[in-house]
Amino acid sequence: MGVDVGESQHVRDQGPRDRLDASRAGDDTHADAARRRCAPGGRVGARARRPRRLRVLLPQPHRLAGPASADAAPAIGGRPAVARRAVPPHLAPHRPGGGTTLHLRGDRGLRPRLREVTRVLSAGQGIIGRVAAGGSTVHLTDATESLDLWPGAPAIAREEGIHVLVCVPIQSRGETLGVLSLARRTPEPFTQSEIALVEASANQLGLALANAQLYAETRRRLEDLKAAETQLIEGEKLSTVGKLAAGLAHEVRNRLTAILGHTELLLMGADDAAHARQRLNTIVDETSGAAQMLQNLLRFSGTQTTERQLCHLRDQIHWVLEVKGGALGRDGIRVVTELDSVPPVRADETQLQQVLLNLVQNAHQALAAHAGERVLTVRLSETEGKKVRLEVLDTGPGIPPELLPRIFDAFSTTKPRSEGTGLGLWVSCAIIKEHKGTLRAENRAGGGAAFVIELPAATALWLGSTSHTTAQQ
Ligand SMILES: Nc1ncnc2c1ncn2[C@@H]1O[C@H](COP(=O)(O)OP(=O)(O)O)[C@@H](O)[C@H]1O
Ligand SMILES: [Mg+2]
Repeated sequence: MGVDVGESQHVRDQGPRDRLDASRAGDDTHADAARRRCAPGGRVGARARRPRRLRVLLPQPHRLAGPASADAAPAIGGRPAVARRAVPPHLAPHRPGGGTTLHLRGDRGLRPRLREVTRVLSAGQGIIGRVAAGGSTVHLTDATESLDLWPGAPAIAREEGIHVLVCVPIQSRGETLGVLSLARRTPEPFTQSEIALVEASANQLGLALANAQLYAETRRRLEDLKAAETQLIEGEKLSTVGKLAAGLAHEVRNRLTAILGHTELLLMGADDAAHARQRLNTIVDETSGAAQMLQNLLRFSGTQTTERQLCHLRDQIHWVLEVKGGALGRDGIRVVTELDSVPPVRADETQLQQVLLNLVQNAHQALAAHAGERVLTVRLSETEGKKVRLEVLDTGPGIPPELLPRIFDAFSTTKPRSEGTGLGLWVSCAIIKEHKGTLRAENRAGGGAAFVIELPAATALWLGSTSHTTAQQ
């Protein structure tokens, strides 16, 4: 609601039409723009004055348009309503349908009492509510007499000196989002062209509000997607932990059996001192081996850190091969490592372990079902472009050519449900992308599959800042 409160003297001096101008701080650019758009025909003097009267409307659309206002989108389906304090007229977004509420979200020139009574209105209540419910413009020429303008009418209208009122629905795609209202403190009605301008402004507002809603909706969906992705990554990690635990349980049971056997023989007391000592050494080795395995599992299954730190891929490779070594050996797979000395990368250690485990696990599955040579090669090198390259190569059957183009898509699997989910490579790819690296898959010329990761080497700057941090601790 724009009421020329506070400037009535000045406005009255400029002639009756100028009293529509509720803006106290409009600028010439807006006035010029208004002139081009809304003052066709008429006398030169009127042309020059009219824009100043209506410029109160001009800042609206671009104030509300664009992403900045998205958080403040009007209340649709129960979300917070638009909150633009600088909107000169009464902008009252509401939720569509029956039982909706209108909130005053922008005003200029409203006195506290009028602002208070129009702060919250139900659709259908008062003139603003009726426009929201009906969806058509209402032009009221006898506001001082009208009983149901808003709560407390007509006394408040008289007190404010409001004679004429125009309320225009703010619509987008056939849905009423709010109401734009303008009041005049003199008796002459709004002209057709003035009402047309108010309606044009309301249309612009409708567009801006719809854009803001769309933006907010897109952003929310993106956030939902991100949350779903995080859950999938976590779920895939848990399934990897499950498989790993099954393999490790096997190893630990073997070691416990050995420990038990040696202990029983020791208890029988048939050994001489040298033999007994040898058995005790074996028991120590087996126990610490089992403890190390459990420690490895705990290290991986621990809470998600997503903390980036200097990470030496060589260490991660050793960890994976230690964890998987037993199972690979049992399936007759020979492991070859070709590890150059390379710079560290900046990474989340657990996430890189997850990727490596996925790749080694895939190679293991491919090789275990393969009749030919079974060799798994892990290679580490530095590229010319200051990147660290990690390759996981196998001599298995290779990737089916029809799968290759969608191998990194979620749920792309050739394995039965009990063996694969089709999420391992998708998760690995997401993790490597997060680390600003690349992961590619190809078939090797001599047979078998190759998975190649490239990650940026940690920069000198980062290395410097890290050692500084460490020194401080
Ligand atoms: N080393 C490999 N050799 C041959 N095929 C592979 C290899 N690694 C992955 N694949 C193929 O890619 C598919 C997707 O792998 P992944 O995303 O890890 O899911 P999953 O292992 O659960 O099937 C596998 O089902 C398999 O067909
Ligand atoms: Mg897999």
